[in-house]
Amino acid sequence: MTMQNIRLERGDDGVWTLTFDRPNSAANVFDRATLEELGAHLAAVAADAAARGLVLMSAKDSIFVAGVDLRVVRQMSAGDLAVFIELGQTVFGQLAALRIPTVAAIHGAALGGGYEVALACDWRVASPDACTKVGLPETKLGLIPAWGGSTRLPHLIGVPKALDLILAGKTPGARPARKLGLIDEIVPREHLRTAAVAWLARGKHPRSLVHSAPMNAVVDLAIAPHVRRDVEAKTRGLYPAVQKAMEAVMGGAAKWHEVDALKREREAIGELIGTESTRNLVSLFFLQERAKHRALPGVSAGERAIACAAVIGAGVMGAGIAQWLSARGLRVILRDIDPTRVAAGMATVGGLYTAGVRRRLFTEHEARAGFSRISPAATEVPLRRMDLVIEAAVEKMDVKQNIFRRLDDIVSDETLLATNTSALSITELAAATKRPERVIGIHFFNPVHSMQLVEVIVGRSTAPECAQRARRFVQRIGKLPVLVKDSPGFLVNRILLPYLTEAARLFERGASAIEVDEAMLDFGMPMGPLRLIDEVGADIAADVAATLSAAFPERMSVPAILPGLIAAGWLGRKAGKGFYVHDAKDAWKPNDDAANLRTGAQQVVPLSREALAHRMALLMINEAAHCLAEGLVEAPGDVDFAMVTGTGFAPFRGGPLCYADSLGARRVVGELSRLAEQSGAHYQPCPLLVEMAQTGKHFYED
Ligand code: NAI
Repeated sequence: MTMQNIRLERGDDGVWTLTFDRPNSAANVFDRATLEELGAHLAAVAADAAARGLVLMSAKDSIFVAGVDLRVVRQMSAGDLAVFIELGQTVFGQLAALRIPTVAAIHGAALGGGYEVALACDWRVASPDACTKVGLPETKLGLIPAWGGSTRLPHLIGVPKALDLILAGKTPGARPARKLGLIDEIVPREHLRTAAVAWLARGKHPRSLVHSAPMNAVVDLAIAPHVRRDVEAKTRGLYPAVQKAMEAVMGGAAKWHEVDALKREREAIGELIGTESTRNLVSLFFLQERAKHRALPGVSAGERAIACAAVIGAGVMGAGIAQWLSARGLRVILRDIDPTRVAAGMATVGGLYTAGVRRRLFTEHEARAGFSRISPAATEVPLRRMDLVIEAAVEKMDVKQNIFRRLDDIVSDETLLATNTSALSITELAAATKRPERVIGIHFFNPVHSMQLVEVIVGRSTAPECAQRARRFVQRIGKLPVLVKDSPGFLVNRILLPYLTEAARLFERGASAIEVDEAMLDFGMPMGPLRLIDEVGADIAADVAATLSAAFPERMSVPAILPGLIAAGWLGRKAGKGFYVHDAKDAWKPNDDAANLRTGAQQVVPLSREALAHRMALLMINEAAHCLAEGLVEAPGDVDFAMVTGTGFAPFRGGPLCYADSLGARRVVGELSRLAEQSGAHYQPCPLLVEMAQTGKHFYED
């Protein structure tokens, strides 16, 4: 066997070091060869009677071991996969069974198999760097940790905490990981190995000595029913991996024999791997990876990285953007015409940092440093040294155009001029300046700190270098960009709107708010559409609907219930009432009075939840197909990735276009056509779908 992915060295002190260093790659991953190599190295270590201990390290800049090589796993047959899983379990078992103490010295991401190998060690030390993250995110891919992770983690940190981490696929940074017990000590990167050697002195972890004793034999009896109910309520049976992971964790914790527990892990992953939902989740993972690294071929983004930015408008979005940028090391000017809004914006930023410290995302020191990188400005300041300006003032074309005209005089020729507008035309805005080629949309979603997607909107006159630079900037600040051509509503809001207005229309026609929302929760959306309208605000939803219906009058309109709600002052959560009544504690119940706003003209026969969900989902598919046909984005994957990341569209369905493929274009078109005849022209299927139905094509051909 050629040894090439891991270096094995022995010091004179009897301490062995295994360094993961996959050649020609920024990442370490586990494939079959690497596992076999690890197994051979471990056998050599085990044979050394004078060995004192073993330290596992990585030579990479930002990755310990990123997990399994998903590209390889995706191609495996069920039989090959079973062999591969068993090999990993055996090798990690070899590591756990060494009679010498073992320490994983983690710098960078130790995820999935990368953390399971660390779990098979006695101790774990990690660097505090931002790139260091640990955890078992397998359920996010429709899989479960099956190299001992589902069994060993509950033994290390207890069943409740292990369940919380594994079922949600969380991957905390070093500090929260230390608090949870996922790692034992945080040490600066340069001292990692020394610290690891010091941990060897503690000997074997007490857990490995009581090897196969159950950590808590009453687990199943005491907490299992409660957890099962909770998981069932949260997943609605849509995420089999979460259920299987739950069984594996609870079963593993209560099992006397590790062998049984590991067998259970193997069986569970074997059942999951071929399912459509796992396939879709894995594809989404690849789409996200693509968004992280993608660039326009042959277009330079310029030499200089964006280091300082001005944010114009210190409201909800401006403050959120300023905080995010400052936390990533940028110097930021936060400007507003209203001094009280500047102060309020800075208070919002302060609140976000405080919350970050509480969640151990930052140290106090980092939070203070981040906060002090923002300079508040209530009067005009020179912006000539800014690399980027992001305008996040009120959503009015004339206000924004005035801001951009003024910017013309106070920024340099190099400055990228961006707007955070949710719907206004970038091209029209750019026309107000002397440098339309430098104007672009950088559309963050709310709340900025938790939404990963950013739409980069390219106006008709935007220069390709500026698009490249904006996309690179979004990638560098740790968000996921999708490049979209300027068009009303851009991509995400454009596809979301027909869905929201359909929900409102179904309500108008007699369906209850609960029925409409539950239908979509059953479908897999994270929140029902009517509750989402309440969150967004009926006024804003009506505005967006008006803008989009002006652009696409044949398919879109403002449902009558929205002006009704607005007239009644029931704007949604911010007003305490909308489709629901909201109380101060964020609890909500249906607003029975909203039903009185129905015009009553078109009551429909009650529809089942499936039928309700079907109508709403079909309209998303249809609009997504229109966007693709208009060339707003390059590929179906862009649409699906953006809808899942930006709206939480049922991830296991892979996005609206992937879902359309699973239904088949013929069925989609057939049902849309039937609805168009019976219930309204807005169901008319998109010509692209019609053509696909005729030719039997799919959005994803492979
Ligand atoms: P907001 O109303 O909270 O804040 C707007 C701020 O702009 C106010 O503080 C106002 O004083 C300031 N402002 C107005 N004219 C100004 C000028 N000439 N110069 C400097 N500051 C000025 O609004 P929000 O929600 O933060 O929205 C800002 C932009 O972001 C809008 O274009 C909106 O469409 C967009 N957006 C909003 C999202 C949301 O969920 N709130 C999501 C994504 C985009």
